[in-house]
Amino acid sequence: MSSEPVILLKHLSKKYPIYDRPSQKLLELLTLRRRQFHREFWALNDLDLEVPAGSTVGIIGQNGSGKSTLLQIVSGILRQTRGDCLVKGTVAALLELGSGFNPEFTGRENVFMNGAIMGFTRGQIQDRLPQILEFAEIGDFVDQPVKTYSSGMFMRLAFSVAIHADPDILLVDEALAVGDVIFQHRCINRINLLRKAGKTILFVTHDLQAVTRFCDRAILLDHGRKLEDGTPEQVVQRYQALIFERESRAAGKGEFWGPVDQDTGLQIVNTIPFIHNRFGAGGAEILGIILLSTNGEVLNEMRENQEVQLVISARVNRTMEHPIIGFTVRDRLGVEITSSNSSYEGLHLPVAQCGDIITVGFRITVPRMRPGSYSISPAIAQGNIWEHTVEDWIDNALIINIADSGLVYGMMQWPVRVSYSVRRADR
Ligand SMILES: Nc1ncnc2c1ncn2[C@@H]1O[C@H](COP(=O)(O)OP(=O)(O)OP(=O)(O)O)[C@@H](O)[C@H]1O
Ligand SMILES: [Mg+2]
Repeated sequence: MSSEPVILLKHLSKKYPIYDRPSQKLLELLTLRRRQFHREFWALNDLDLEVPAGSTVGIIGQNGSGKSTLLQIVSGILRQTRGDCLVKGTVAALLELGSGFNPEFTGRENVFMNGAIMGFTRGQIQDRLPQILEFAEIGDFVDQPVKTYSSGMFMRLAFSVAIHADPDILLVDEALAVGDVIFQHRCINRINLLRKAGKTILFVTHDLQAVTRFCDRAILLDHGRKLEDGTPEQVVQRYQALIFERESRAAGKGEFWGPVDQDTGLQIVNTIPFIHNRFGAGGAEILGIILLSTNGEVLNEMRENQEVQLVISARVNRTMEHPIIGFTVRDRLGVEITSSNSSYEGLHLPVAQCGDIITVGFRITVPRMRPGSYSISPAIAQGNIWEHTVEDWIDNALIINIADSGLVYGMMQWPVRVSYSVRRADR
C-alpha cells in the first residue's frame, strides 16, 4: 500500500448562485450578466484534503453540508469554482439517485452511457455486461426505462456498473441506504474486497456505525467546511456532539449544570456515540451518555483539575425498585481504571415505573492521569452495590481524551500532599 496521495484537494470551493425569485435570473440575462441579482451560496468552502492510495475515508455531516457536492467534484461531474482537485487513476462513482443515469433510457442503455463516461469502449462494456446484469439482479427490467425502477433496483444497477468497472478509486454516496438487506450485505462484501485489493474509497453515509466499521479515517463536513479529520471514532464523536449541541440549542435548553432538581430533572441525553457490544436483562435501556463542561459545552477531552459532569440517561421498561446508574472507565488497552455508580456515591434513586426516564449527573474533578484516550461504559442495574442485575450495559459508548498535563508515573497520580522533617545529626 503506497502513501502517495491519489486525491488531492486544495482550497476547494464551490459556489452556487441563489435567486430569490425566478425573475432575477431573467434580469441578469437581460443585463448580459453585467448586474448581479443573485446571492452567493458556498456549498464547499476552502476545503483541503489528501487521500493516500489504498485508504477508505468516510465523509459525514448533516444534510446540506456539502458531501455530495464534494464527491461530484472528485468524480468530475461538477466543476469547482475555486481551488484545485487532482485525482490520479480511474474513478467509478456511485452517486445519489439521479446523477450519472438518464431516467428516460433503459437500464442497458444507461450501462453503456455510464461505462463510456468512465472511459470504457463499447466492446469492453459488452464483455462485462453479463456480470453486471447478474450482480444487479434486475431481470427483464434491463430493457425498461430507468424511471420505472424502484430506488433499490436503480441502486443495484448503478452499484454493479461501478464495481465491474474495476476502478482505482470508488466514490460511494449513501448507496447502501436504499438496497434491501441482502443487497446491502453483498455491497459491503464487495467494498471489503475492493479495500483488500488496495483501492481507494470515499464513502459518504449517515450510517455512523458503518463509518467506524469500514473506514480507516473520516472527515466531518459542516456548512461546506472541514470541521474534523481523524480516526473514525474521533470524528463520529465530534459529529454526535455537534448534533447534540444543535438539538439542545433548538430546544432552548443550554442548561445542563447545577444540582439535581427532582422536579425538572437534568436534561435527558439521547446520544450514544458507539454501540459495539451491549448486554443486560432488558428491564431498562441506556438512552445516552455525554461529558459536559460547567458551561454545558460538550467535551471530548478533559484535563487535570477540570470540573466536568458525566450525564447518563436511561429509560425504564419494567418497574425497578432500586435502580442504579453507573459507569466504568477503561484505558485504550481495555484495563479498568475506575468505576462508580449512583448507589456507591450515596444517591438513592427513587422507584421507577415503565416509561420513566432517569438521568444522573456525575460531577467530577479530573485527577491527573496518563494522557491518552479512555472509554466510558455506562450501565443501569437493579439492586445494591453488592448484589445487582445488570439491565443494560454498553461497552465503550463514549471515548474521551485526557490532555497532557505533565509527567505521570504509572496510570494516575494520587492526590498526595508531601511534608518532611530532618533530624540533623549532632556535629
Ligand atoms: N444546483 C444547486 N443550486 C443551488 N444550491 C445547491 C445546488 N446543489 C446543491 N446545493 C446546495 O449546496 C449545499 C450542499 O449540498 P449537498 O448535496 O452537497 O449536501 P449533502 O451534504 O450531500 O446533503 P445530504 O446529506 O442531504 O445528501 C446544500 O445546501 C444544497 O442546497
Ligand atoms: Mg448528499
